[in-house]
Amino acid sequence: MSSRFYITTPIYYVNAEPHLGHAYSTVVADVQSRFHRLIGDETFFLTGTDEHGDKIVQAAEKMGVSPKEYTDLISDKFRKTWPLLNIHPDRFIRTTDPQHIATVQRVLQKVYDQGDIEFREYEGLYCFGCERFLIERELEDGKCPDHKVEPTPLKEKNYFFLMSKYQDWLIDHIKSHPDFIGPERYRNEVLSFLRDPLDDLCISRPVSRLTWGVPLPFDENFVTYVWFDALINYLTGLDYPDGENFSKFWPVANHVIAKDILKPHGIYWPIMLHAIGLEPYKALHVHGYWKIKEEKMSKSLGNIIRPGWLVEEFGVDATRYCLMREMNFGLDASFSHEGFVTRINADLANDLGNLFSRSVTMLHKFRKGIVPPERGLEGPQAQLRDMAREIIPQWKKLMEEFKVHSALEMLWRLFNTANKAIDSAAPWQLAKDETKSEALDDILYCLMETLRLGGVMLSPVMPDTAKKMISSMGLDPESEICDEALLWGRLKEGACVEKIPPLFPRIGPSKKEAKEAKGAKKKSQGDKTKKMDKKEEDKNTENLITIDDFAKIELKVAEIVSAEKHPNADRLLKLTVKAPEERTIVAGIAEHFSPEELVGKKVVIVANLKPVKLRGVTSQGMLLVAKDSSGLHLLSVDPETEPGAKVS
Ligand code: ME8
Repeated sequence: MSSRFYITTPIYYVNAEPHLGHAYSTVVADVQSRFHRLIGDETFFLTGTDEHGDKIVQAAEKMGVSPKEYTDLISDKFRKTWPLLNIHPDRFIRTTDPQHIATVQRVLQKVYDQGDIEFREYEGLYCFGCERFLIERELEDGKCPDHKVEPTPLKEKNYFFLMSKYQDWLIDHIKSHPDFIGPERYRNEVLSFLRDPLDDLCISRPVSRLTWGVPLPFDENFVTYVWFDALINYLTGLDYPDGENFSKFWPVANHVIAKDILKPHGIYWPIMLHAIGLEPYKALHVHGYWKIKEEKMSKSLGNIIRPGWLVEEFGVDATRYCLMREMNFGLDASFSHEGFVTRINADLANDLGNLFSRSVTMLHKFRKGIVPPERGLEGPQAQLRDMAREIIPQWKKLMEEFKVHSALEMLWRLFNTANKAIDSAAPWQLAKDETKSEALDDILYCLMETLRLGGVMLSPVMPDTAKKMISSMGLDPESEICDEALLWGRLKEGACVEKIPPLFPRIGPSKKEAKEAKGAKKKSQGDKTKKMDKKEEDKNTENLITIDDFAKIELKVAEIVSAEKHPNADRLLKLTVKAPEERTIVAGIAEHFSPEELVGKKVVIVANLKPVKLRGVTSQGMLLVAKDSSGLHLLSVDPETEPGAKVS
């Protein structure tokens, strides 16, 4: 029986542009919404941007524009990022939408009228990063563990939402609904928070200090913002209170967040909902952090990876796959470029890509690309069929439980079993023996049917790949990516399978890396034959340039003002140089120089190279170095030389 499903992501602050962390939560929600559509659920997927508060005003000031101009700009960047990742929400909400402001005011008035909001003086430690007061127990070395800054002591009169009176209700609710917050560790974390008495929640700011918020309907001298404003987006998104979507989808609300905002979602939000007389959401799904070298990836720490860089380099499906496969939902994961490349080559190019192309090639070779009947014989093919049948319900369960990484892992066990089945059934041997014709039919059928089913099961994570696989079998992905298609035996005898280009070409070293590797190999070969010398000589003459060619190259002296590791590639350094204007140069010298030893050095650069993007960072020039058997040496100049001086 089909049912309904409502999925949300956090609404992201617009004080910076989207990065991999935001992309992860949003891909998770997109995968879930595609999965639920696949199994026949009516689904609603909401994401958006959180646009009020101090942080936004500060970011706008920094850019020299009004908060409205600023929020329009950044919100649009979020909105435009999602289609790049093939993410298609049903609604993109902004907290500056008039409908949302009206909904927040309506809820505030209701809670105020029933006596759950009080005006009083408060003194506490406020973290501007979290936009809330922290309690001592949450601090690490006196600092906010997420933003690594000491919170600011604040004392002012404000409105407070009286949360504490609902504390016991919440504890009971969590205890009686084991799936309310998951994975388990986060449920326990919330219950542990609730062992101490809850503080009431400060929900206002005086307009004297901040105007960029939702005006309180009962006091024009104050605005509300942050949590009371942001969390209500999940209701506005469904046109609360009268919208049809609200009655249809609120009972099946699933929120995806990372652990940074567990407390507002695990405590404030259910209490707010209870206070306004609504059932709390159905489930909160909490994931860990993407880290880079043990640090949380975050805009405040500046160690970010943009989703667009990954898509540009790896493609949409491979990026979505790596995000889902590399993070065990609930735990932290480390991002590394190498990790993604290895994952893509091993899982996508080798396991899946080879299985697909081997199977289709054999079907063409032995059966002219036409799907044979299944004969139901014993042997590796039967094992494959049994495994595929067994996996379908388990895969569904794992997907429903948000264990997408395990669901993928299981699917890969099936692909690997199929690869092994090819090796043990050896269709090329069967093809030589007329009496083995049925066994050959059987293995070819089982392979194609495994790939069809695999395609359907991959579709929430890799929609384009799934479409390619399914259409190559002459099936319509529109109608064949559905619950009924999750049944062994749907691929019919006589279907015509088309040969298509490799699903995932192997990612090799970049051209430059390949050239360098070739150079190194050449050198180590030592003695070259005469023939090779001659070739080299010809090449050298070919490579001669004229003085005019040389005149095109602008060499300048540059001073290295800062140097750091490239966030995305171990071999590269990101240098800021003065020549005399400041520019960024990405240089492949990380294995030879530490960033520290470079700072202050005067070097020679090629100043008029067209900028190129190297692993996501734009390089405006090239550093000259000399290479000998001991390694690389900087081409340095007399320290007196002024940065920007021309080299001729
Ligand atoms: O907190 N790893 O917005 P925000 C994994 N506006 N996920 C990450 C991440 C990382 N390193 N960094 C960010 C807010 N995220 C509020 C939310 S909701 C009513 C209001 C993701 O822009 C993750 O989903 O700081 C996290 O919870 C969210 O971005 C925080 O986004």
